[in-house]
Amino acid sequence: MEVIGIKTDLVGVGEDLVEALQNGMQRAGLCLMDGDILVVSESVIATWEGRVIDLDTVEPDERARALADHYGKDPREMALIIKESDSIVGGIPGVVLTLNDGFLYPNAGIDHSNAPPGHVILFPKDSSISAKILREKLSSGRRIGVIVGDSRTHPLRLGCVGVALACQGISPVEDARGQDDLYGRKLMITRKAVADNLVSAAQVVMGEGDEGIPAVIIRNSPVEVIEGDDEALFSMPRIAPHDCMYIGALTGGLRPYAGGYDWLIALAKEAIVNAYAPYSGFKVGAAILAASGRVYSAGNVENASHGAGLCAERAALAKAISAGEREISALAVVGDTPDPITPCGICRQMLVEMGEDILVIMANLGGKAAVATAGELLPNPFIGQSMAKESDGDSLIS
Ligand code: THU
Repeated sequence: MEVIGIKTDLVGVGEDLVEALQNGMQRAGLCLMDGDILVVSESVIATWEGRVIDLDTVEPDERARALADHYGKDPREMALIIKESDSIVGGIPGVVLTLNDGFLYPNAGIDHSNAPPGHVILFPKDSSISAKILREKLSSGRRIGVIVGDSRTHPLRLGCVGVALACQGISPVEDARGQDDLYGRKLMITRKAVADNLVSAAQVVMGEGDEGIPAVIIRNSPVEVIEGDDEALFSMPRIAPHDCMYIGALTGGLRPYAGGYDWLIALAKEAIVNAYAPYSGFKVGAAILAASGRVYSAGNVENASHGAGLCAERAALAKAISAGEREISALAVVGDTPDPITPCGICRQMLVEMGEDILVIMANLGGKAAVATAGELLPNPFIGQSMAKESDGDSLIS
């Protein structure tokens, strides 16, 4: 496999990327051949799409200023991040992690690098369409693939690797499940991120700075270039946040309820009948399954002195513990909420005391349900061990 860089003149807004690439190839005596895959950097695609913004034209609002202050960013850039992303997941000083259309991006993909002074480059508006145009205009009847490439870090790893934003002419992920490993065992979960891997190879040649190599030709690779424009074949597959190892494990996010506890949910629902909620009018029911197999249910118990009120979860927990139970397997809670009801902070604290692995099934009256463990609902809890004299070494902060 060969990785051949295409050196071009600086491509500014309003300039034609197709022409710049053609000129670059001509100067180097290169032309595209059947089976070639062209990897083009996202910043040059975004520039070509006219996505370069003069920061002085951005007027940040109050939210942008507050978030900029919190994350140590330029308020104008934060205003753009808010505008360009679906949500901000969190961040560290200098970088926020955003969700755009189901994918994660640092700072909504907004770049300072390779932008003129005082400007930033937004994320390409539609990398897939831009890749399609490049493929049509550069192929001259040959079978070529185009990938728009970007770079990312992996959690806890230093340094960027390649990631494909869009593909044309190649399938971005190859399913290697069912293939044999060296010992003849079938691979169970391996999918090869073919397009990402090609972008990584391209970036070894491209660099990310002043190299002036915005595109790379990958030649003689074992990756099949597919003719036609079957968008379903070329589109980037995504996985739901709860199926993602990093997001699922670290956010303590709720997972969809997969069944098995309908009967416990039904008992929690029954307990709503005896809820005493004259002040809020909001009745909740909870049912606890102890390891003994016994079930304890309760409704919320309010009081004229509002702070003295008990949530349904804690009322059920008090019943179970005072009956001698010390091992709790699961808790179901049901309320009349639009989405599955989630336990309050005090209940999470009381629950986690009995075990971080307790399964919490959260449901609403309409039958929507989600699950999480007590530990996921209350990460980094204050527990008995917190008062020990020495650390058990499990902390992420040392
Ligand atoms: N409540 C519960 O019983 N469980 C929850 O998970 C959330 C809130 C109760 C407490 C109070 O009686 C009423 O709902 C309104 O906050």
